[in-house]
Amino acid sequence: MLNFDVVIIGSGLAGLSTALKLADKKKIAIISKRQLIDSSSHWAQGGIASTSSSEDSVDKHVSDTLAAGADLCDEQVVRFVSEHSPAAIQWLQNIGVDFTKQATNNLLHFTQEGGHTVRRIAHVADTTGKAVQSVLIQKVLAHPNIRIFEDHIVVDLITNKKIDLSETAKNECLGMYVLENFSGKVNTIRSGVTILASGGASKVYLYTTNPDVSTGDGMAMAWRAGCRLANMEFIQFHPTCLFHPKEKSFLISEALRGEGAVLKLPNNKPFMHLYDARGDLAPRDIVARAIDYEMKKRGIECVYLDITHRTKSFIMDHFPTIYERCLKLNIDISKEQIPVVPAAHYSCGGVITKLNGETDIKNLYAIGEVAYTGLHGANRLASNSLLECLVFAEQAAQNILAQPGHCKSDLPQWDESRVTDADEEVLITHTWNELRRFMWNYVGIVRTNKRLSRAMHRINMLRDEVQEFYQNFRISNNLIELRNLLQVAQLIVESAIERKESRGLHYSRDFPNKSAEKKITVLTPDNFNGERFKKNKKLTLVR
Ligand code: SIN
Repeated sequence: MLNFDVVIIGSGLAGLSTALKLADKKKIAIISKRQLIDSSSHWAQGGIASTSSSEDSVDKHVSDTLAAGADLCDEQVVRFVSEHSPAAIQWLQNIGVDFTKQATNNLLHFTQEGGHTVRRIAHVADTTGKAVQSVLIQKVLAHPNIRIFEDHIVVDLITNKKIDLSETAKNECLGMYVLENFSGKVNTIRSGVTILASGGASKVYLYTTNPDVSTGDGMAMAWRAGCRLANMEFIQFHPTCLFHPKEKSFLISEALRGEGAVLKLPNNKPFMHLYDARGDLAPRDIVARAIDYEMKKRGIECVYLDITHRTKSFIMDHFPTIYERCLKLNIDISKEQIPVVPAAHYSCGGVITKLNGETDIKNLYAIGEVAYTGLHGANRLASNSLLECLVFAEQAAQNILAQPGHCKSDLPQWDESRVTDADEEVLITHTWNELRRFMWNYVGIVRTNKRLSRAMHRINMLRDEVQEFYQNFRISNNLIELRNLLQVAQLIVESAIERKESRGLHYSRDFPNKSAEKKITVLTPDNFNGERFKKNKKLTLVR
């Protein structure tokens, strides 16, 4: 059995920055499902919101975040995050991130995105995530106290409640089972502290801007371990994912609209002004819904983003990666419009945490997209996500460093005695495809009661099938991810059914108005008595 002070699940910005903040004092493991570079953070284009500019203030940032969040953000949390934003940017600069500067001086260049009333996005051209992650990866690889496990996936968390099955034991995370993808072996890891930094769940949808690793693992594991989750119905659909048969999941950053790009119909007519006074820079929920509406009304496959009013040199300077990537597909964005569609981009809900990253379970933290902190409300303001990772990494690290050490008891080994090799892996692929398609069709940008209950019915059926597979056959990466996705899909649909209004990212044709009551959707594993869940209520450790 391996033993660490802190095990971090995920290698995005939340995971790597927390690791670096702890590593001088703690023995750390980072578990990454593929390579360290495979994270949503790495793919982030736009940047990091910060009130560092002289034209900005915490009040303005707070007010923009609350407005985008459709009155469902926790104002105290928003203020806390905003106040810590300059320090977060400074920390990245201190470790070597070279943000884009203004042409005339050495001050940071701030770009603009939807929902922001001032320019406040610190960025590194159009590849902010890659630039930040490259620096962090170099640092974690060089640190003697950090051990990296690439190509490893956590099967499940181990808690004392699961081991004892005692109703009275305080629920505490003790470690986890981890599958080595290359050998198929499941190892047991004992950890003093476990940090979920595993990102969101956008892979539950057919079309997404996310990498393949975004399968909601942390949310599903936390739920099975007994944590509450909140606001799972709020899935953000980014309005502008490139629409091209050869490009899967390539984002066209909102920063293009920040620099004046305009959304147009195939007849070359702009349309966003018909939906919102802020036009193309309205918050994402509004823009994505408008595009969805226009596409369905007109039977068109995509809309177009036009930045041809800018010079080629401006475009190449500000958006070199987007320019190159589109050019490879024979789209010269300095001369032609870019075909775009909305795609699942970000999970605004997640595992409920305090301001220091603690979850409901002792010694289990959640940071970044996996967490629900109260920052995003019903719709995340652009570029607040990387900021959230940095601010909560710092808070969690401080909290963990202030705790005493943890005892190191033995944990039970993974039990493979009653399983055989799977004979039909293809069933996993089919189920995965089926799930993603009906989630897109029934639980997408526009929802109805009927669509949601159809989705729930199918999820329950698939969950039974996958659970049987999980119990009887040797596990694989795909099976673990599918099991997690199904769990998260169930939580998304359950939350969507619970919300009897339209607000932010949750739009229901059956309840088209916003209710006067501002309610967070909280799901609690212990109180799971609803018919929709009855079959799968059991919390079991080993199969
Ligand atoms: C973008 O560049 O449009 C994405 C930024 C974000 O999701 O915050």
